[in-house]
Parts: sequence; C-alpha cells; structure tokens
Amino acid sequence: MNITEYFKEKAALVDKWLDRLLPSESETPSILHQAMRYSVFAGGKRLRPILTIATGEIFGAGEHELLPAACSLEMIHTYSLIHDDLPAMDNDDLRRGRSTNHVVYGEAMAILAGDALLTQAFRTLADYQSTNAENKVRVISEIGKAAGTTRALIGGQVLDIQSEGEILTGHQLEEIHRAKTGALISCAVRIGAIIGGANENELKALTDYGEKAGLSFQVADDLLDETATSEELGKTAGKDAAKQKATYTTHYGIDGARKMADRLSQEAIFATGAIGRDARILQEIARFIVERRS
Ligand code: IPE
Ligand code: IPE
Ligand code: MG
Ligand code: MG
Ligand code: MG
Repeated sequence: MNITEYFKEKAALVDKWLDRLLPSESETPSILHQAMRYSVFAGGKRLRPILTIATGEIFGAGEHELLPAACSLEMIHTYSLIHDDLPAMDNDDLRRGRSTNHVVYGEAMAILAGDALLTQAFRTLADYQSTNAENKVRVISEIGKAAGTTRALIGGQVLDIQSEGEILTGHQLEEIHRAKTGALISCAVRIGAIIGGANENELKALTDYGEKAGLSFQVADDLLDETATSEELGKTAGKDAAKQKATYTTHYGIDGARKMADRLSQEAIFATGAIGRDARILQEIARFIVERRS
C-alpha cells in the first residue's frame, strides 16, 4: 500500500470514530455541537491520529485500544486550530478549505467549541476500555503534557504570539516550533508506542523520530505558507509575512529552510533504525511531512 492509500484508509477510520465520539448535532446545545463538528469534519490530513495508529500497529496494538487515544489528539489539534485562527491570535478567515469557525459561528461560539473539543478529548481518554489501566493513565498524562504549557502546545503558542515583529535567534525559533507543533506530533508517536507496549529503548528511538518529524512538520508549514497557494493549503497563504511571524523561512531563507526540513526528515528516518522492527510506514510518513503540498 502506498502512503496516499494508507492515509486515505486510516483517515476514514479516524473519521468513523470521531463521529462516534463527538456529540451529535441534534443534542443540546445544538449550535455548539454543530460548530465542533464543522471544524472537525472540514477535512484535515489526520496526521496526528495516523501517527498513533501507525506506531501502535508496529507493536500489534488493535483498533479499540488505539482509536480513542488517536481521536483525542485530533480533537485537541482541531481545538488548537480554531483558537489559532481567532482574531486575537492569527486572525485567519480560511481553514481546511472553509471559512474559519468564528467567521461562521461568531467568536464566542468558536472559543467555546475549542474549549469543548479539548474537554471531550480528555473525557474520551478517561472513558475508553483499556486492557492496561496503568498504560492508559500514562497516555492521559502524556497528552496533558503535550497539550500544556511547558515546552508544549499552549506554551509554544504564547511564544509564537510574543515573537510577532521580533527577530529571534535560531535557537529561540526552534523552541517555538518544537513546542507549538512538535510536542503534539511527538506525543502521537509516543502514545502509539505506549499503547502497543514498547520497551524503554523502543520508546526512546520513537521519541527521537517523533521530535525530528514534529519539528520538520512546522518547518514545512512555514515553507508552505510562502510557497503554496491558499487553494492548495485550504488556509491563507502568506499569512506569516502579513503577521510578521518569526519563521524558518524569514530566518534561513527558503532554500535554507528547505534544507533543514529535508535534513530533519532524514534524521527522523534514521532514528527508526534503532527500533528493531519494521518501521517503513513511519519512514514514509517522515518523507510525506516534508514533501506535502498542503
Ligand atoms: C496545521 O496543522 C497547524 C500546524 C500545527 C502547523 P495540519 O497541517 O496538520 O492541519 P490539518 O489538520 O491537516 O488541517
Ligand atoms: C499553529 O501554527 C500551531 C498550532 C495551531 C498549535 P500556525 O499558526 O503556523 O498554523 P497555521 O499555519 O495557521 O495552520
Ligand atoms: Mg499560529
Ligand atoms: Mg495560524
Ligand atoms: Mg503556519
């Protein structure tokens, strides 16, 4: 199976579970449930849940163990996009090929839809039946950490906002990208490994992979912001320059950022060598992350 087919198949599985795990639109408060589903089912690559599935499958983990945790990551990711697009943050009006959540539902409902997706993610994690209760608590803690403040998603968003109009060092830029984007991607890999019962050495190798792939993902996102069209991206191209964001392309130039993305991808692929299992799918995903056009 090639990587495009793999993504298509797993994204369909993720969507089926997300539909099951999210409140239906008819349930009160209907408008809020509509707003949540509007952004979740607008498309999206489903990279984070697919990384959890791909990693878990290497260790033989099954659908019922992997999908609730995988979907909780997509809920958190989607909440972060809704909030990222708010007027007080990046102020974007296009996301996943649609008008942003606040443009359609208003700012108040968009904030609440984000809050609700984050909350539903942790409820999903608490509720699912696991054969290993200790692992489950560990997974919840990992996700809480990655979505949190210290070298994690929210902390990274804070640094990103503070960096507008500033000139940063390469080190500061890397810190932002590792936190706002890398942490959740690396977490996706780690929880797949934990659910699958990976040993500490395997987990270490996979963490290395996840951190490299996660950083390369945001470098590629910065590149795409400058080199792709809004139609390709389904979000506003050229937004970083307009908001004077500190990005890999402003810092290293397009060629420099391209080289860094490719190098990180190669390093991620190299890291899979230490797992001692067939990790071809993770290697393909590392390649896809830096070669994608959307
Ligand atoms: C966009 O993430 C936001 C970043 C962390 C750079 P994705 O590019 O994974 O967005 P979707 O989920 O495919 O829409
Ligand atoms: C977003 O980074 C990171 C998170 C949502 C946590 P960006 O602001 O670069 O993402 P896009 O480009 O709007 O998708
Ligand atoms: Mg942003
Ligand atoms: Mg943004
Ligand atoms: Mg971006």
